[in-house]
Amino acid sequence: MKLPFKIDLSNKVAVVTGGTGVLGSLWVDALSACGAKVAILGRNLDKINEKVKYVEDNGGIAIGIVADVLSKESLVQAHKEVLEKLGPCDILLNGAGGNHPKGTTTKEYLYEEDLNNKNEKDITLFDLDEEGIKFVFDLNFLGTFLPSQEFAKDMIGRKGCTIINISSMNAYTPLTKIPAYSGAKAAVSNFTEWLAVHLSKVGIRVNGIAPGFFLTSQNEKLLLNEDGSYTDRSKKILNSTPMERFGEPEELIGTLLFLVNEKASSFISGVVIPVDGGFSAYSGV
Ligand SMILES: NC(=O)c1ccc[n+]([C@@H]2O[C@H](COP(=O)([O-])OP(=O)(O)OC[C@H]3O[C@@H](n4cnc5c(N)ncnc54)[C@H](O)[C@@H]3O)[C@@H](O)[C@H]2O)c1
Repeated sequence: MKLPFKIDLSNKVAVVTGGTGVLGSLWVDALSACGAKVAILGRNLDKINEKVKYVEDNGGIAIGIVADVLSKESLVQAHKEVLEKLGPCDILLNGAGGNHPKGTTTKEYLYEEDLNNKNEKDITLFDLDEEGIKFVFDLNFLGTFLPSQEFAKDMIGRKGCTIINISSMNAYTPLTKIPAYSGAKAAVSNFTEWLAVHLSKVGIRVNGIAPGFFLTSQNEKLLLNEDGSYTDRSKKILNSTPMERFGEPEELIGTLLFLVNEKASSFISGVVIPVDGGFSAYSGV
């Protein structure tokens, strides 16, 4: 893989949750290309094996573990396997996360007529499913909390260990239609600050990355029409992005490497860096 710059992660063990995802997979490649031994945590064994093979074919060292970031038991088991096969974790990248259609409205705004002439397909505040909201909150918040709780144990008393969380643009100001995902990512940003303070005395840095808009399989249904043209939502995003384009997933790698590199960011903890083409800085005027 082509890195924006190289850092030395040899002898480091990185654990990446969501390591077979669209962005997570790229982060695995970047850490591996810098020499880290990577534990790829995911849910689907075939995808994990494929990813491990890819890393090995490219000269890296990786192991794959089926693990659920929402199950303490599964994480304890995964941790045991990482310790046995690679050693203690130096870098935890909490990459698992995402939205769910059941936590999403179809309407940006509620109008009175939506209630009077109800169209079955419309989803407003009043139709949102409790389970859907819980699913999204758990996946993003607990799915960051529980792996941090488990793997931070390895980092105590060892130099240069760090945790990277993945937030989102919607953590700053919620995006329309996705209340659960927005709230959950705000919680991830908030937890990043809390954890940075809590772990400061034991020398563990905790930071986050807030990706802006990257066209990936996770969001393509919201951003592209069936014919591949931009949806109205895409056009709004691009109008609110001073750089007037979507990001390329590779554009997240520089920030990741900067944050995991003790030499480059030794005095940085508790920040969430937006990588967003200026979206979060722009008021629209
Ligand atoms: N794609 C974007 O534009 C974008 C923007 C902002 C933030 N993000 C965030 O970046 C991160 C990675 O996103 P992505 O685009 O690679 O998404 P993705 O859906 O491709 O990957 C998410 C990964 O998490 C895994 N996962 C889901 N539930 C899990 C569970 N219970 N246990 C273990 N693993 C589980 C999935 O299997 C998948 O591999 C997510 O936190 C996402 O919210 C993405």
